[in-house]
Amino acid sequence: MKHFINPADVPNVQELIEEGLTQKANPLASRNLGKDKTLVLLFFNSSLRTRLSTQKAAMNLGMNVMVMNVGSDGWQLEFQDGAVMNGGKAEHIKEAAAVVGQYADIIGVRSFPGLEDREADYAELVIESFRQLAGVPIINLESATRHPCQSLADLITIEELKTKARPKVVLTWAPHLRALPQAVGNSFAEWLNLTDYDFVITNPEGYDLAPEYRGGAKVTHNQEEAFEGADFIYAKNWSSYEQYGQILPGNEDWIVSAEKMKLTDNAKFMHCLPVRRGVIVEDAVIDSPNSVVIQQAGNRVWSVQAAMKKILEAM
Ligand code: CP
Repeated sequence: MKHFINPADVPNVQELIEEGLTQKANPLASRNLGKDKTLVLLFFNSSLRTRLSTQKAAMNLGMNVMVMNVGSDGWQLEFQDGAVMNGGKAEHIKEAAAVVGQYADIIGVRSFPGLEDREADYAELVIESFRQLAGVPIINLESATRHPCQSLADLITIEELKTKARPKVVLTWAPHLRALPQAVGNSFAEWLNLTDYDFVITNPEGYDLAPEYRGGAKVTHNQEEAFEGADFIYAKNWSSYEQYGQILPGNEDWIVSAEKMKLTDNAKFMHCLPVRRGVIVEDAVIDSPNSVVIQQAGNRVWSVQAAMKKILEAM
């Protein structure tokens, strides 16, 4: 595997899930694989889980790690080809990516969308610029439209907990007070569509995910109908793709409640975190024994460790 930016970079998703479980069973088995190799993590945006789980995974593989909050500490970057740089942006991505590539054997990048220009966000300019210009493998730590480290951890979690070969997995939109990216929802849909699970997406009208991400998944605007018989409820907010970046009025009643969970087949509750209690999910649900959000966050180590192991093996 050369990069870990989207599922197209992964030759065999099921094998990668198995690799994650293997790493979890024996975290230090490959501790010499990354010896004398350096991972550079570039954060244009905040993080708790992604930052710490990726550092932990790299240490398990014997790598050195350098982390930079490039969004706050770095030079403002220009991405447009041919730009006359007489404004506030001091460095072009052509130099910045190539220079970081001189220091790193692998680069991880987190860069959220602006949520103003859909075409620009969905072109994935930041992460694709690093892919093209850095000269070393790139790991996507959440880009404008995808979060593959999270989605692989989600699939590992479902693999651990499923009690039937083909569980019903429901991705439900839930309310939020701020406009959030579609990346987690997009990515979860994209990766779930690579399984043969019974996959349903439920969201209010106006919040359908981009067609290329929701793919052939069943989509319903009736949340309670979607919950019926579900084995996993995955809650996440995203702003509108159709009215790009907007929060549409209403829909506060889409909170995941204990009452709605009764419609499921004793479903596990999942969320990528951070989560706003009382807005996205009731305390009674996230504090219940069926909540697996901590196990899910723990699996972030094994998902990125599996991906980095595959990249290191291919070097
Ligand atoms: N789920 C997730 O990516 O968490 P952080 O934003 O804290 O990294």
